[in-house]
Amino acid sequence: MAAFNTEKVLSVHHWNDTLFSFTTTRDAGLRFHNGHFVMLGLEVEGKPLMRAYSIASANYEENLEFLSIKVPNGPLTSRLQHLQVGDEVLVSRKPVGTLVVDDLKPGKHLYLFGTGTGLAPFMSIIKDPEVYERFEKVILMHGVRQVSELAYSDYIQNELPNNEFFGEMVREKLVYYPTVTREEFRNTGRITTVIESGKFFEDTGLPPLNPETDRAMMCGSPAMLEDLCKMLDSRGFVVSPGVGEPGDYVIERAFVEK
Ligand code: A2P
Repeated sequence: MAAFNTEKVLSVHHWNDTLFSFTTTRDAGLRFHNGHFVMLGLEVEGKPLMRAYSIASANYEENLEFLSIKVPNGPLTSRLQHLQVGDEVLVSRKPVGTLVVDDLKPGKHLYLFGTGTGLAPFMSIIKDPEVYERFEKVILMHGVRQVSELAYSDYIQNELPNNEFFGEMVREKLVYYPTVTREEFRNTGRITTVIESGKFFEDTGLPPLNPETDRAMMCGSPAMLEDLCKMLDSRGFVVSPGVGEPGDYVIERAFVEK
């Protein structure tokens, strides 16, 4: 059996010069947990050229969705950014990853910390009704350099809360906190900075981070993960030691070398 399914591109959306997303068909046999990633790519000179991509669609959705940066000389994204409806992409058959709510201990507040394309796995998670059943609040913090990188912000603020099945839970429980570091916006500063300074808690009315009640998932650059891990560890949070072993938080590197 081939390692990859061939899927057809159904839509492409360019958020700005550096960021785009696309949807594809989904093989009927592809099963995944929200938060998982696959290897995705193109056949180049007869060989698969694949990179890790978090799945941004939820596991009950008919199609797959991915969020990608465009790297001008990136082996894959220099090609992928030109995708058109009807083109074919390769998708691995076995989704995997550590950003799964099953690897978190029970808690009250679920923090989702994402920077840049590190938002993608959390799009899948905030569309999961079970997540709202497990937690009293689901807090999505998305840190980006420019306002135009706040992908899906309209969807998160205006569509998801009106979802016919679980919109009510979203309205009650989801706290979306986008923050921008290199231009003016209603929230500015790195995720770590607005937490350390207390600004985030003043803005949202949430209590300070507490390992007794709070759980976290994080996805971003190695530097962002290192700083956030330090911040949580210093507050007494314990990272999940591995898949199937619950902790207070789980980590995944945003896959950016494309
Ligand atoms: P900044 O503009 O201050 O570097 P990137 O595109 O480099 O991954 O950055 C995405 C967002 O993550 C930017 O807002 C960036 O802020 C922020 N960021 C970069 N490094 C860290 C870090 N170590 N901790 C928290 N946020 C970070």
